[in-house]
Amino acid sequence: MTGARGPLRGSVTVAGDKSIGHRAIMAGALAAGTVTVRGPGGGEDNRRTLEALRALGVVIEERGPGELTIHGVGLDGLRAPAALLDCGNSGTSIRLLSGLLASRPFTSALSGDTSLNGRPMRRVADPLTRMGARIEGASGAKAGELYPPLRVTGPASGRLTGIDHTSKVASAQVKSAILLAGLGAEGPTRVREPGPSRDHTERMLAYLGAPIRVEGGLSELDPTGWDRRLEPRPLEVPGDISAAAFPLVAALVVEGSELTVREVGVNPTRTGLLDALAAMGADVVCGAERVACGEPVADLRARAGRLRAVTLGGELVVRAIDELPILAVAAAFADGVTTIRDAEELRVKESDRIATTTRELRRFGVEIEEREGGMVIHGGSARVRGPLRCESEGDHRIAMACAVAALAAAGEHSVDIADAGNIATSFPQFVAVMRALGAEVDWR
Ligand code: S3P
Repeated sequence: MTGARGPLRGSVTVAGDKSIGHRAIMAGALAAGTVTVRGPGGGEDNRRTLEALRALGVVIEERGPGELTIHGVGLDGLRAPAALLDCGNSGTSIRLLSGLLASRPFTSALSGDTSLNGRPMRRVADPLTRMGARIEGASGAKAGELYPPLRVTGPASGRLTGIDHTSKVASAQVKSAILLAGLGAEGPTRVREPGPSRDHTERMLAYLGAPIRVEGGLSELDPTGWDRRLEPRPLEVPGDISAAAFPLVAALVVEGSELTVREVGVNPTRTGLLDALAAMGADVVCGAERVACGEPVADLRARAGRLRAVTLGGELVVRAIDELPILAVAAAFADGVTTIRDAEELRVKESDRIATTTRELRRFGVEIEEREGGMVIHGGSARVRGPLRCESEGDHRIAMACAVAALAAAGEHSVDIADAGNIATSFPQFVAVMRALGAEVDWR
């Protein structure tokens, strides 16, 4: 992939929200009837979830781009898969499916690509084991940690026991795996977490009539007295703010740009990006707000201008966790020194994103220091002085962050981004969208 300068202008939509897409497919599969889903992203990660549910006996029709009809089988209707469930690059697929399958009275095997098979699973395996499931996995890089492939076996009775779980990390994947397991448990399941991780599972289950409540840092599902029916209501997936982040930041840092991304999910547990950019003095405006299936949606307009450095930490980092690489790019073009801290979780994403972001921004001449839980970024120094080659390590967000840095810094030079194919895991339309906005970006 190559990038070159040019003001970005226009109005676009982006891929459907990947997180909500996974949950829509899973909730649709467990519903007590037929569910239509409008707007799922079509990225590889969502496809892994879709294919896994097909392998578990759910009939899913694809009615053209961005439209699914899912014939829900009810909470107890999944059937034993004939083969291993391949989750590809998708942490959300493997962790949420583990929760979904933890109560089923059969064994499922789940695995992924090299990146996924190097990611920690004890954070879901331990609580699911406490609920009564048997979870086996592989050993790996860190002693005592558990890695895919996983084997998940539910109790013969098909009923787990609800637990009260306090998570060490603010992780929507952990929280959601436990809550999905809680759908097949006796008694209440409670999850407490140290920060506000995304709450799409809670909103979707509530929208479909499940007895779930959220209070502060607590999410509770109490099926006592419930008829165990998820209502087959139509679902809509808004645009992914984690995809929109790339054109939005590109508009801020490429001189003369002004663009709108329409129909983006702006759930407050996901809008750390917008709060960080506001603190940087960015011209980003939210309009046409509405609510779809319990999720707030809006159009976002961004205009190029000066940015100033900020310090990002605490709960904002949780609400911007996937946007930290692209925020680091924004910081590289801002006035002053930006600090990102409390972001240790970045080390166990699709790549070690503290290491990959630091290494890649250095190629652009950015002065940047790596910290255990973040980065210190000296703004204003990004420049490309000759043909450049970035290494994304197959991490979609690193590849897209490099592309945006290239658009703003490359000048006459071209930037190659190696191993960028995984952009298709979350935002297969990335290159087409950037080109529609006037960027010189292409596949090679
Ligand atoms: C996700 C949760 C986050 C996020 C990931 C998607 C989800 O991961 O980084 O891209 O859909 O629940 P963690 O739960 O590991 O923080």
